[in-house]
Amino acid sequence: MVKFEFAEPPRSGDDVVAFEDLGKAWPLEGGGEKSVFGGVSGLIRRQEKIAVVGVNGAGKSTFLKVLAEQTEPTSGSVRIGASVNVGYFSQHSMDVLDPKLTVFETVQAVMPNASIGVVRNLCAAFLFQGDDVDKRIDKLSGGEKSRVVLATLLARPVNFLILDEPTNHLDIQSREILLGALQTFAGTVVLVSHDRHFLRSLVDRVFEIDHGEMRPYEGDYEYYLHKTGREHSAA
Ligand SMILES: Nc1ncnc2c1ncn2[C@@H]1O[C@H](COP(=O)(O)OP(=O)(O)O)[C@@H](O)[C@H]1O
Ligand SMILES: [Mg+2]
Repeated sequence: MVKFEFAEPPRSGDDVVAFEDLGKAWPLEGGGEKSVFGGVSGLIRRQEKIAVVGVNGAGKSTFLKVLAEQTEPTSGSVRIGASVNVGYFSQHSMDVLDPKLTVFETVQAVMPNASIGVVRNLCAAFLFQGDDVDKRIDKLSGGEKSRVVLATLLARPVNFLILDEPTNHLDIQSREILLGALQTFAGTVVLVSHDRHFLRSLVDRVFEIDHGEMRPYEGDYEYYLHKTGREHSAA
């Protein structure tokens, strides 16, 4: 198995993103709006690995979108720090792949100066070996597409990864590869995942979104579970 090693990303400032009194409401179809959260303030520092947790519909994806500047907050501000290069992954990222390109062409497009060998290596690290790299995007399964998107994300000199359920379509082997890559990643990570093994092995802070508020837990996932008495719950 090929192990992927990040190119050392450029170092960001110590304050990666500061958010203050942040609020988000989505417009409702029949008019009016639905408030997701409000009054959320905090600071994400360099090299932190943060899990954002909460029940379905709590606003995890919305919070990540606001952080990644994919949508405007309704109130408050997000300040991205100096020299921060964001890489954002969501389920939607797979839909923006060009269906007519091959795996190799897709990865090469984000690293135009890399040699064929380097591109092949990155593809191989995400389990596209031999002829697999010549498969067209529109012939790929959901899991394969996720792997392509993650490969293109990691090919760039990003130092702040915002990942919304990156392991959803991944098989166990791909999940372990991604986990290994994130564990050795010298940058900052904010992630949503339902994979407890992933969370236990990676994160050192937890933000819980609950009823429109966000609470930080200054510890790893075990600490969060202990503090909230959720060690034995299934969710
Ligand atoms: N693009 C959108 N337009 C309108 N409403 C949305 C949009 N995205 C999310 N919502 C709503 O915002 C709330 C929070 O959703 P989301 O952030 O996806 O939660 P989570 O990721 O925690 O499951 C839900 O009520 C959802 O229906
Ligand atoms: Mg979500």
